[in-house]
Amino acid sequence: MGKSVLVINGPNLNMLGTREPEIYGHLTLNDIRERCEQHAASRGLAIGFMQSNSEGALVDAIQGALGQHDGIIINAAAYTHTSVALMDAIKSVGLPTIEVHISNTFAREEFRHHSFISPVAEGIICGFGVDSYLLALDALANKFEQRK
Ligand code: DQA
Repeated sequence: MGKSVLVINGPNLNMLGTREPEIYGHLTLNDIRERCEQHAASRGLAIGFMQSNSEGALVDAIQGALGQHDGIIINAAAYTHTSVALMDAIKSVGLPTIEVHISNTFAREEFRHHSFISPVAEGIICGFGVDSYLLALDALANKFEQRK
């Protein structure tokens, strides 16, 4: 059976395209969704893709991935740096999860250097723009292939 990955996007990522383009570039979240869908298809993966500005909706999405998807890619945006609830949700479902960021959070303000997601993630990819998502898809596709 083909594997499926849920791509989860946190607050303000719906503003991509106009939001601080000097940091986040000019692609919209819809552009990122399309590139993820294309890349996932090329790796034989199905994907779900969602965005919410609400912490609870993100927790619900993580919980809802159980039994529906085989892995998670999450850009928790600002909740990365604040949310014990997202960390606990990821831990509770036990799905392989990759943390992604468009920008290199370690090259930015100090409050962005700490992540509640990193300790429960398989790995972290940040600083490569939309490619952070595509590299995360590759990482999960490779992992699933090695398991066969
Ligand atoms: C971000 C980095 C976060 O620090 C920030 O709050 C975001 C986006 C990124 O993708 O670079 O909203 O997750």
